[in-house]
Amino acid sequence: MCLNISQVCADLDGGIMSLIEEINALKKERGAVIIAHNYQPDEVQALADFTGDSLELSRQAAELDEEVIVFCGVHFMAETAAILSPEKTILLPDQFAGCPMADMITADQLRARKKEHPGCVVIAYVNSSAAVKAETDLCCTSSNAMKIVQSVPEDNEILFVPDTHLGHYVQEQLGREMIIWDGYCPTHSRIRDRDIVREKQDHPNAKVMSHPECPQNIRDVSDYLLSTGQMITHAKNSDEMEFIVATEMGLLYRLRNENPEKKFYSVSDRALCPNMKKIDAEKVLWALQDMQHLITVPEDISKRARRSIEAMLELS
Ligand code: 13P
Ligand code: SF4
Repeated sequence: MCLNISQVCADLDGGIMSLIEEINALKKERGAVIIAHNYQPDEVQALADFTGDSLELSRQAAELDEEVIVFCGVHFMAETAAILSPEKTILLPDQFAGCPMADMITADQLRARKKEHPGCVVIAYVNSSAAVKAETDLCCTSSNAMKIVQSVPEDNEILFVPDTHLGHYVQEQLGREMIIWDGYCPTHSRIRDRDIVREKQDHPNAKVMSHPECPQNIRDVSDYLLSTGQMITHAKNSDEMEFIVATEMGLLYRLRNENPEKKFYSVSDRALCPNMKKIDAEKVLWALQDMQHLITVPEDISKRARRSIEAMLELS
């Protein structure tokens, strides 16, 4: 049972319903669809047609019939949609919604590192720019990183960019040595072990679900390491009733709405991604009114990046 938009927005000013009506009318007129990442503010998730993790949204964007996609997420996600569907109009409602981790590596830096390791297979976490993806062999997300790394023959050297924590998690699990970039997510890095200790004391029966972007000290005390989509599936399918959730707190919206009989505790108020919170219902309306902000990728970059993303989609 999902809360509808009027329930979510009950605390907001009375104009919200007319805002939603305007969004729906314009959506129809423009032939648009609204998709949102699991970390978006509640009101955006509530008005979206689809909500999901990075992999689900990339797939969704490619399969949807609508010509216009309002992508409520961060820049690299909208870029991925633009790469997979170059004929569609991809709109990001806030042009400054970026991902600091994706900005921790540039195409020039990657080219320089590749020269130091000729012949290595480059795997890019999807949280990277199109220009970086264009320099890679394979893309991955947090839900398929293990599978993607395993697809590379053992005798190939692997350069994994840009997330050091996801890279080290995969390396630990597979016992496969990789060259790993030193990027990280500032939001997941703000989660401290004492947050987990405190939450476990308060909720001794709760299982800890953490995102693999968390640092090792958090991973080590977690019961499950899962992507946001996998957390949704696990919470639904398991018999467990209480969970401490060590990822961006926006995920709590779906977890609670889809499992009203279960309890979910955010690990910390610090687990908040300011970029994911830049979009709100009003900006979604403006995006449709002004057809802004159009996300495009130059054809030469798009072509090379698409190979890497499609290779991932085939393997997952
Ligand atoms: P997911 O692929 O698990 O949705 O994660 C995306 C992300 O940005 C995590 O910080
Ligand atoms: Fe980037 Fe972290 Fe925000 Fe995800 S949560 S978009 S990795 S800064």
